[in-house]
Amino acid sequence: MNIKIIRFRTLSKDFDKNLVSFFILEGSKNMQIIQIDNEYLIFQVEIFTGKGNNMITEKILDKFRKFYPNKYIDIQLEKDIDFEEWKRMRLKSLSVGKFTFKPIFEKTEKDDSVIYLDTLVGAFGIDNHPTTIICLEMINKMEPKFKLAVDFGSGNGILSLALSQISKSPTIAIEIFYSYCLEIKHNCKINNVENIIVLNGDSMGLIKELDLLVSNVPFSVFADPNTNILNSKFKKAILSGIKIENKEEFINLLRQYNIQILDLQEKEGWIGVITEKQGR
Ligand SMILES: C[S@@+](CC[C@H](N)C(=O)[O-])C[C@H]1O[C@@H](n2cnc3c(N)ncnc32)[C@H](O)[C@@H]1O
Repeated sequence: MNIKIIRFRTLSKDFDKNLVSFFILEGSKNMQIIQIDNEYLIFQVEIFTGKGNNMITEKILDKFRKFYPNKYIDIQLEKDIDFEEWKRMRLKSLSVGKFTFKPIFEKTEKDDSVIYLDTLVGAFGIDNHPTTIICLEMINKMEPKFKLAVDFGSGNGILSLALSQISKSPTIAIEIFYSYCLEIKHNCKINNVENIIVLNGDSMGLIKELDLLVSNVPFSVFADPNTNILNSKFKKAILSGIKIENKEEFINLLRQYNIQILDLQEKEGWIGVITEKQGR
């Protein structure tokens, strides 16, 4: 596996939701805006490729131009990096409350207080994203008394691993992407964790009742009734992944499901809540 780091230049006016969605659907990660002025905007993405796949940038450009003939795009820079080098660049240590995460390549001797993380496909959770940190801070405050927890939208399994450190009870990690499920299993294995059950799925429909739900997914996923997140029968839930501009809409949505907010945290433009289900 190799990673291509590509910088594209577009017109500032052409950089919109459609462009961002296009690159996400093409499998690009970690989109960053590098430079912006009145006319042009330069953004960078990372794309996982097989070794020697040099055509991928041209293919993406061709496809983009076919989809959006009126938008401007060109390439500013293209760099291949080896997967191990990329891992060393991206996997960083993280300490939140009682939880310490370290990249697997920093493991020197067995230390049960540390949770080690590795990556196979760059699943979400390695980024120390504000929403991941909000969830970890909230899990840190939780009493470890639950019989069953669910981590819905588990990415690389970081939140499930935190739960497994505070309780021996099972946690079900539900993740829509099969490749991310393999990454969760790998992270369980390197930590000798056996109480995380990984389910490749996109709904809470299978889960009858649970004590604790942890879910860090976009607003649209909470709002989608097919995911059954908000009507699942949980006692307490830690929910994050919501942009601050959707705060009121999210609070109204929770109200519709009789979910009461016990705590609300904001971090870098994102919010997370600890909630309780009334009438359960
Ligand atoms: C923001 S990431 C959170 C990852 C990790 N739990 C964390 O807190 O860092 C959201 C994850 O939810 C997954 N996801 C999105 N929609 C989903 C759905 N309908 N069912 C299951 N997983 C979903 C995504 O693939 C992604 O891995």
